[in-house]
Amino acid sequence: MISSSELREKYLQFFKEKGHAVIPSASIIPENDPTVLFTPAGMHPLVPYLLGEPHPEGARLCDVQKCIRTIDIDEVGDTSHCTFFEMLGNWSLGDYFKEESIKWSYEFLTSDKWLNLDVTKIAISVFEGDDDAPRDEVSAGVWQECGIPKERIFYLPKKNNWWIAGDAGPCGPDTEIFIITDKEPCSPECSPACDCGRYLEIWNNVFMEYNKKPDGTYEPLKKKNVDTGMGLDRTIAVLQGVSSVYETDLFAPIIKKIEDLSGVNYGKDPETTEAMRIMADHIRTATFMIGDEKGITPSNVDQGYVLRRLIRRVVRHGAKLSWENGNAWKIASVVIDIYKDVYPELVENKSRIHDELNKEEARFAKTLQRGLREFEKVASEMAEGDTIDGQTAFHLYDTYGFPIEITVEMAEEKGLKVDTNGFDEAFREHQEKSSAGAEQKFKGGLADSTEATSHLHTATHLLHAALRNMFGDTVEQKGSNITAERMRFDFSFERKIEPDELKELEDWVNRAIEAKIPVIMEELPVDKAKAQGAIGLFSSKYGNTVKVYTIEGYSKEICGGPHASNTADLGRFEIQKEQSSSAGVRRIKAVLIKD
Ligand code: ALA
Repeated sequence: MISSSELREKYLQFFKEKGHAVIPSASIIPENDPTVLFTPAGMHPLVPYLLGEPHPEGARLCDVQKCIRTIDIDEVGDTSHCTFFEMLGNWSLGDYFKEESIKWSYEFLTSDKWLNLDVTKIAISVFEGDDDAPRDEVSAGVWQECGIPKERIFYLPKKNNWWIAGDAGPCGPDTEIFIITDKEPCSPECSPACDCGRYLEIWNNVFMEYNKKPDGTYEPLKKKNVDTGMGLDRTIAVLQGVSSVYETDLFAPIIKKIEDLSGVNYGKDPETTEAMRIMADHIRTATFMIGDEKGITPSNVDQGYVLRRLIRRVVRHGAKLSWENGNAWKIASVVIDIYKDVYPELVENKSRIHDELNKEEARFAKTLQRGLREFEKVASEMAEGDTIDGQTAFHLYDTYGFPIEITVEMAEEKGLKVDTNGFDEAFREHQEKSSAGAEQKFKGGLADSTEATSHLHTATHLLHAALRNMFGDTVEQKGSNITAERMRFDFSFERKIEPDELKELEDWVNRAIEAKIPVIMEELPVDKAKAQGAIGLFSSKYGNTVKVYTIEGYSKEICGGPHASNTADLGRFEIQKEQSSSAGVRRIKAVLIKD
């Protein structure tokens, strides 16, 4: 039986033979893109190239990309939805188009040299056409040429067969490949458009012919691209002949560990089986979030909040198994073991993964039982269809640490609703009060963390500029991580930086600070930003306007912000450490000292 490692290898080998360069997986935390919290698809790190930038590896690329999508979090627990997944992708940047793309997908899936899937189990969907783009007869024709009969080719509307990341940017009609499962059709109209489970989507080929402009209109792209994505977990489930992703070699050892630790058998009853699946999925995702090159930690904002929600959900579902707390890290060890050869960063960051999971689990476990009792009390006084008010939901959040999404979920289980607007209002009121408190503290000399991080962010731009000023344009940002206390900046550079050079870099940044220069933000079209010599990734992206932050005479960089308003606010810049980060990449840690 084919293993998941073999599937990754076969996929890359197949596309290598078709002239594709294999590129590495990017971080799951996007670089300089404030529009998404996590890398949602293999194409995301490639947006600048899909918009026309030449890629250094050429016009045919393929990879295995770590992705996170939390949009389907409510579906997790079924047989196929996951919050973390690996996407096998191949791209044509203005090179081949529909015919080759479809024929190669077909060859890879069905040839006995490759996956040898049963052709009669394959169904296809294509775009039915509308005012923006024509019906995709070309793709349907190629599929028929391959041997897929008309009855298994479904024409579907934009909702199903058009792909775009976000609201604007490169996009186009797609053709999706489904495996027909053993489930009977749910109705005579049953098609890949319905989610009854008969059709399992495994691969999506997007034909990017258009750029959707922020005003909602479409213009043809200069070059037509192909963007494809195949889900590793789902495809391996089909190849291993199991009925859910949790029985594949990617998940089975995780489920086994949960069984051992809890004494509950997977599959025993639907409720505990669902809880075990959710726990397995969420611990895997949390492991990848904390263990990423740009690892994050639980918090109340952005990526950190998503991570917090996942871990707290694990604790809540664990309670259904009479789960002993303090086990999440043991399950994470199994995750690390499964993925260690493909993602060595998980091994490098093992102790951080264990620590963060332990801390967050303990934090929530402490208040969970009391919070659950409080919730039960509230719920017992209500009738089905009633609404829990915003103040109560906020109380559960503020006192017992229940993220609002968890309260909504628990309410739904009891047929209740939650006034989430009321929750938001209570939340805002509370924030206003506490930020008034922070301002007070600031007056007393203590900056709050938002201010501290935005100052460190500006310092990061200055350091980036200082490095390029000293060592030339081959220095490129490879990563950036900012906490309230310090900045960490990774960049391409081949050797150790000597102490006198570090001093020079520090002096350069401090000169910019002493010069008291305003930090100006402008929104510019990508072309103009480039023409002005702005550095940074041109992947902001899903629109042709980018934000450019300028520190006149020192730095001009594309970025989502926020930043200090004047360099004078930064205090004194001090480099604390310079070290190797990975091959060809150095890391600098620095702080701002406010006197
Ligand atoms: N970008 C396409 C998707 O994520 C391939 O489905």
